[in-house]
Amino acid sequence: MKIKTLNDLANRAVKDRRFLHQHPELSGEEYETNQFIRNRLEALNIEILDYQPPSVVAFIRGTEGMKTIALRADIDALPITEEGDTPYISKKPGVAHMCGHDGHTAILLAVAEWLSITGNEVEPNIMLIFQSAEEITPSGADLLIKQGVLETVDAIFGIHLWQGLEKGKIGLTHGPMMASIDDFEIIIQGYGGHGSMPHETIDPIYIATNVIQSFQSIISRNLNPIDAGVITVGKIEAGTTYNIIPDTAKLIGTIRALTPQAVHTIQTKMLNLTEGICQAFGAKGKVDFILGTPPLINDPKQSQFIESVICKEFGHEVLEIVDPVMGGEDFSYYLQEKPGSFIFIGMGGEKSQYPHHHPRFDLDEEVFPDAIKLFIEIVKHYK
Ligand code: NI
Repeated sequence: MKIKTLNDLANRAVKDRRFLHQHPELSGEEYETNQFIRNRLEALNIEILDYQPPSVVAFIRGTEGMKTIALRADIDALPITEEGDTPYISKKPGVAHMCGHDGHTAILLAVAEWLSITGNEVEPNIMLIFQSAEEITPSGADLLIKQGVLETVDAIFGIHLWQGLEKGKIGLTHGPMMASIDDFEIIIQGYGGHGSMPHETIDPIYIATNVIQSFQSIISRNLNPIDAGVITVGKIEAGTTYNIIPDTAKLIGTIRALTPQAVHTIQTKMLNLTEGICQAFGAKGKVDFILGTPPLINDPKQSQFIESVICKEFGHEVLEIVDPVMGGEDFSYYLQEKPGSFIFIGMGGEKSQYPHHHPRFDLDEEVFPDAIKLFIEIVKHYK
C-alpha cells in the first residue's frame, strides 16, 4: 500500500474538514456526520465497534498483549449562524462548526488512515472515539462511558484546536486544565404585599440581594486563594411593578471551578448561605444544582509523557504549559475514569482571530499537520 506523507494526510483532512464544515449537525443529531465517518473507516477496513450512534467508536488491534490507548475527537456543531464569506461556509442556517470539532473529526480520520496504512507496525491497540454531543448535557462522553467504552482502555488522549494559544505552540497542563460547569436555580419564598407597607411583608428581593452578596464571600473567604472559582448570577426574576412586593424571587446562574474539592465547597456554602440567610429573614430558600461537566484534570504521568513527545518530536520551544481556562469540556468525564491528557493545538493568529463559539470563528488549517503528527507520535511512543 502506498505510504502517504503527512502532507497528503493533512490535505485530505482539510478536504474532510471543509465538507463537515458545510454540513454541520447539532449535538446528539450528528447522523450524517456518523455516516461520513463510518464510510471512511469502512473504506479503510477499520473495525467499527457497537456503540450507540451518532458516536462512532473504531478499533485497531496492535501487538498481542499490548495496552490500549483511546484517541478522541468530538463531532458536534453549535446553534449559531455562521458569518463571513469562506468558500466552505455552513450550508445550514442556524447551525455551524464554531468550535472546531469539524477539524478534530477530520484530523482523527487522517490518523485512522495512517493507522490503516502502517498496520502492524503499531504496538498499542488503538481505539478511535468520534464522540457526539460534546456541547450539551447529557454529555456524549458520559453516555459512551456508561456503555463501557473505557473498560479495556489504559489511557486516553484528546486535542482541541485552540484559538487562545498562539499558532506553533502545543499546550497542556500537568493537572487541572479546564473548569467544571454546574448551573443553579434558587427560589426565595417570601411573603408579598404593598410596596408602602414592607413591615407586613417578607421581601424576597431584598433577601435575594443579601444572598447574592454573600456568594462572593465563598470565592474570597472559603476557597483557598490559589484555587480558582466563579459564581455568576446570570438572571434575577422577581416582581411586577413599582409598588408591589412579590412573594418570590428566582436567581439562576453558573458555577465554575478547577477541582472537585472547590466544586464541593462552593455548592455546600451556597446551600448553607441561601438557607441560612432566608431563614434569618423569615423566608425559605430552595437551591437546585443542575450538574454539568466535571473539571478537566490531566493525569500528571500521562501529561509528562505528552510533554516528552512534544519536546522530542516538535522541539522544546513548541511546548507551552498553559494556564487553566474556566471554560468546560466533556473530555473530563474520560479523565475521571482513566489516566490521560487533553492537549491544546495552538492556532491563534491572523487566520484564526475570533474566539471559539463566535459567529466568525475559523480554524487555521495550517496546524492540521502538527495535530495529526502529534497523535501519530503518541501512538508510536506509548508503551
Ligand atoms: Ni470545543
